[in-house]
Amino acid sequence: MLQFKAPKGTTDILPDVARRWQYLERKAAELFSLYGYEPIITPVFEHTEIFQRSIGMSTDIVQKEMYTFMDKGGRSLTLRPEGTAPVIRAYVEHNMNLLPQPVKLYYTGPMFRYERPQAGRYRQFWQLGIEAIGSDDPAIDAETILLMINYFKSVGLKELTLYINSMGCDKDRPAYIRLLKDYAGENREKLCKDCRKRIDLNPLRLFDCKEESCQLVMQDAPKMIDYLDEACKEHFNKVRQYLDMQSIVYIIKPELVRGLDYYTKTAFEVVSPLLGAQNAIGGGGRYNKLVEEFGGPPTPGIGFAIGTERLSIAVDKEGAFVSTDSKMDVFIAIADEAAKSAAINLLFALREAKISADIDYMGRSLKGQLKYADKRGFKYTVFLGSRELESGKVAIKNMETGEQIEVPLNELVDKLLEIIKQNQPSISQTID
Ligand code: HAM
Repeated sequence: MLQFKAPKGTTDILPDVARRWQYLERKAAELFSLYGYEPIITPVFEHTEIFQRSIGMSTDIVQKEMYTFMDKGGRSLTLRPEGTAPVIRAYVEHNMNLLPQPVKLYYTGPMFRYERPQAGRYRQFWQLGIEAIGSDDPAIDAETILLMINYFKSVGLKELTLYINSMGCDKDRPAYIRLLKDYAGENREKLCKDCRKRIDLNPLRLFDCKEESCQLVMQDAPKMIDYLDEACKEHFNKVRQYLDMQSIVYIIKPELVRGLDYYTKTAFEVVSPLLGAQNAIGGGGRYNKLVEEFGGPPTPGIGFAIGTERLSIAVDKEGAFVSTDSKMDVFIAIADEAAKSAAINLLFALREAKISADIDYMGRSLKGQLKYADKRGFKYTVFLGSRELESGKVAIKNMETGEQIEVPLNELVDKLLEIIKQNQPSISQTID
């Protein structure tokens, strides 16, 4: 028989992990809003040109990794490989430059890149990201980096390495690119086929190559950070000062170019020792030309994105998911068919009172129902049959201790509320 499987590079996020993701997203929403960020939701696909123009025609993402297709109307569309370009497109489209600046937006959602799947690298993956658009103040660069670090701390990650770099700007970069081209040209023979093409197309991308021989060449290549003009140097120094002020430890990594063409000035990345080869848990940087690229007025911006899968793996390895308790509160065991309607009424009354509850929908025997309640991990079971309905009294069984008490049926909801309150809040079905 034909066996259906999720497409290569995609994963089903099953309830245990999905609950963890909800927790990570909730923590992000809490912290990001503390820093003034508001949520934004953009489409999962965009016009292909959005990504070509922003990420850059000669990047690996655009050249090799995009899910691009023609729709029935003959438009070239692309499943978003990242969230920055769509947010900036939305900023321009909705004239957000007329709002008080900076405009601070955060998002979460699936991204798509046709990459070779491996642990921590998928074709559909999720990101948690922010973009602060409108300010070129180095203090906001530091705030952005700090927010990312503080978020990691808030979900229990400890050992992280922060790399920072400056990518220069349109004033100092052209002269540097000439130097880089000359250097790469002199070393052409030692570079791979792709890199030879990159020399003329986009030499900064030489730093992205995974080939060892190319990396060796690039180790000795001139680095942008040594050729910054006074303004970019001053900006970078200020960012560093602000980070130092907050005791944020970082390593300056001159070869950090981040695989996307839109970066100017500050670029940063955080890696976790808890991850394998794909150890970049989040990254970001400044993009002072992007709004203009999409037809808006000259407007600086900065942001970051965190990979949700990698984050979840790291938090799990750190042992920082406190509890994955998904226990429900009350199971109503129906002793005989005559009690079914009363059980259904009770079920809705319990849920109305914010008590998580369920009944059997599989026609199980009483014994079978109890087995199910045990397996599914209900905390209490209430027995309802014609005997209980006649006597007006019901038994509540504590499934953990086996203890049983009898309460008047008309006080059941209040009694359960009381018991549940006493025995810790638990039904939240989340981790805290
Ligand atoms: P990025 O570095 O390409 O930056 O992606 C950010 C994060 O997404 C990575 O650090 C990684 O954790 C995760 N990630 C990337 N590709 C994959 C994959 N194939 N599988 C699993 N996780 C992945 C950006 O996307 C920029 N838009 C960040 C940004 C926002 N810059 C400015 N604002």
